[in-house]
Amino acid sequence: MTQTPVDPATSPVSPTLSAAEEALATSTDAASLAHSVTRSAQIEADLDVNPDRYRMLTGVRPTGNMHLGHYFGTMHAWKPIQDRGVDTWILIADYQVITDRDGVGPIRERVLSLVADTLAVGVDPDRSTIFTHSAVPAANQLMLPFLSLVTEAELHRNPTVKAELEATNGRAMSGLLLTYPVHQAADILFCQANLVPVGKDQLPHLEQARLIAQRFDKRYGRAVKKHPVFRRPEALLSEAPLLLGLDGEKMSKSRGNTIALRMSADETAKVLRKAKTDSDRRITYDSAARPEVANLLRLASLCGAGAPEELAERSGDGGAGTLKRITTEAVNEFFAPIRARRAEFAADEGFLFGVLHAGNERANAVANETLEAVRTAMGMDY
Ligand code: TRP
Repeated sequence: MTQTPVDPATSPVSPTLSAAEEALATSTDAASLAHSVTRSAQIEADLDVNPDRYRMLTGVRPTGNMHLGHYFGTMHAWKPIQDRGVDTWILIADYQVITDRDGVGPIRERVLSLVADTLAVGVDPDRSTIFTHSAVPAANQLMLPFLSLVTEAELHRNPTVKAELEATNGRAMSGLLLTYPVHQAADILFCQANLVPVGKDQLPHLEQARLIAQRFDKRYGRAVKKHPVFRRPEALLSEAPLLLGLDGEKMSKSRGNTIALRMSADETAKVLRKAKTDSDRRITYDSAARPEVANLLRLASLCGAGAPEELAERSGDGGAGTLKRITTEAVNEFFAPIRARRAEFAADEGFLFGVLHAGNERANAVANETLEAVRTAMGMDY
């Protein structure tokens, strides 16, 4: 794709945003994906050399109890990245809960539960920042200037927004759902995060955040004066292993087919006993033909019990019963220390609130600074 070079000094952000829109539209194409993969690998290598160059932000929605899909998808990576010396920020995305549903549910309980999970997987509140959307007004205020930098068409085209809309089963698109990439950009940009762990499907979000940063700095002359207000976030690409729910469908809280981090060993055994398998007594690892059996083998394997093929061999002719026993033991052994820590934290509500308040305070300090820089850049620092 060739683009007419624009002079950032004179070109206003065009009302049609055509060049930038094209850039966004191509963000998922092969060339740009390859670029993201290469960059991510470079960053991965640089993290050990220059961890202090990075601030990592990740966000989780408090929609229910965190489960093993969340753990092996993202949460397992938080402690290692923190322990490499990267400034680690965990956003409990409470405002995101209202993007695609009508109410917030038992939000207080869910947020606290998520704080406990976060601590249980090894996030250290003295070194890392755990905070919620709703407690950081200055971050949310960025929505207004940011919304002026995107077009409606661009938002409608965002693949993640489309996917989110489809997931709501015919619910009408709310203004917040449509502008959800802008809100997420505000999350990333207010705290000056330059590293966001994402799966490939989330790359368009990051591209949108980068575009907003770029357009802001260009519109308010910061790109030209070389004092950009915002950092340019980059993706740390991760591949989540495929874990299905215990019924063989997509793992999700609403289907009731998950193993929650907070479950006891007995509860885990109980839900695993009910897991869907098949009637073939000989256990084999065959994802296509026997997805439910393969899923349990993969789960046990993720918990360190050995390769799926090896575990299938070990189950032999023992059928689903043996397979479930092996899986239950593996899950319970792997999660025992995490669950023990979780139980301790969860028993101390005062401590959990303390962690959240300290995180929110830190987030507010940074958000206020960023908003101050934004107002100055916009000439609104009266
Ligand atoms: N949208 C993310 C999700 O659905 C959560 C999230 C909100 C997030 N804000 C973020 C992730 C900022 C990374 C950065 O899981």
